[in-house]
Amino acid sequence: MVDVERGALTHRPFGRAGFSVPPVSIGCAPLGDMPEAFAYGVTEEDALATVRAALDSPIPYIDTAALYGDGESERRIGLVLRERGGLPADALLQTKQGRDPRDNDYSGETVKRRMERSLELLGLNRVEIVYLHDPEWTTFEAAMAPGGPVDVLRGFKEQCVIGHLGVAGGPIPVEMQYVETGLFDAVITHNRYTLLNRSADPLLSLAHEQGLAVLNAAPYGSGLLAKGPDAYPRYAYQQASTEMVERVRRLAAICERHGVPLPAVALQFSTRDPRICNTIVGMSKPERLRQTVEYLTTPIPEALWEDLAEVPFDADDPEVNRYRR
Ligand SMILES: NC(=O)c1ccc[n+]([C@@H]2O[C@H](COP(=O)([O-])OP(=O)(O)OC[C@H]3O[C@@H](n4cnc5c(N)ncnc54)[C@H](OP(=O)(O)O)[C@@H]3O)[C@@H](O)[C@H]2O)c1
Repeated sequence: MVDVERGALTHRPFGRAGFSVPPVSIGCAPLGDMPEAFAYGVTEEDALATVRAALDSPIPYIDTAALYGDGESERRIGLVLRERGGLPADALLQTKQGRDPRDNDYSGETVKRRMERSLELLGLNRVEIVYLHDPEWTTFEAAMAPGGPVDVLRGFKEQCVIGHLGVAGGPIPVEMQYVETGLFDAVITHNRYTLLNRSADPLLSLAHEQGLAVLNAAPYGSGLLAKGPDAYPRYAYQQASTEMVERVRRLAAICERHGVPLPAVALQFSTRDPRICNTIVGMSKPERLRQTVEYLTTPIPEALWEDLAEVPFDADDPEVNRYRR
């Protein structure tokens, strides 16, 4: 493992939950083998090697969801957990529950069935943190109704099958509505607080003020800011616009002038924000762990942040055309 600056890896309080987490966690959406989202597949061999490297890294915090490959990400993680005799004591795992992707049913019964499947696939009888996943696929009223998905997840929490309950989704007004209920311990936003898009800003402030743990997923906008616009011209699971690609080139030129890799800046843009306790980085190769720790600990001169302020960012929803009801 690389030589690391201690400060950059210091654990941060998970809201008011009474425990702390590493500043970065391992996003396991790509491990679900979802070419429709990422435009490439991931073999089981690479997935298992990535999970093993994650558990052996200084940031053994895994983020997955029942939705990723409809159980495939959890199944692959479960294979490694079984090799290790369960979740190691220093590791943390979180998953998410929501719609059934086969028919988009988001009922309480579906969420219950899928939570039970997650426990089976992961080989666990408890998951420390579980999120209501992408609630934009149902209505607030249906999600909050007696016997509905939130009720079911709260039931699992009462039985201590779930330690803490969060909400993880896309549209910021929807996320804010759930945060305001006071029922959630944590919130995940994604692709909406990056060098290219800051539309999550009001959510980060609201959730932080209310004492929730605030997690920022997809600091690379699903890959563009890590792989660069030539190798991967996609943002938030869609083709990036020519204008956005041009902006990334401007950002990259500023980073180059200061001798810092663009992904280090994209990652630390999130980790340096005091409202955010954890940044979720998606990956599907074991070498990403070493690279992520390097990016997390790369010194970045203050002047670089000042220069970046010249480059505009979006404040609207990056996925506006992707939602379905
Ligand atoms: N609704 C929700 O709750 C929600 C939504 C979106 C995301 N998430 C979570 O957040 C995680 C992160 O989001 P994301 O995966 O969509 O996007 P991301 O973290 O912005 O980017 C992930 C991509 O960046 C690449 N990458 C990572 N480190 C790299 C490095 N050092 N060098 C080159 N490329 C690198 C990965 O490539 P390789 O595959 O080649 O490693 C992967 O394709 C997800 O995996 C998921 O766990 C949650």
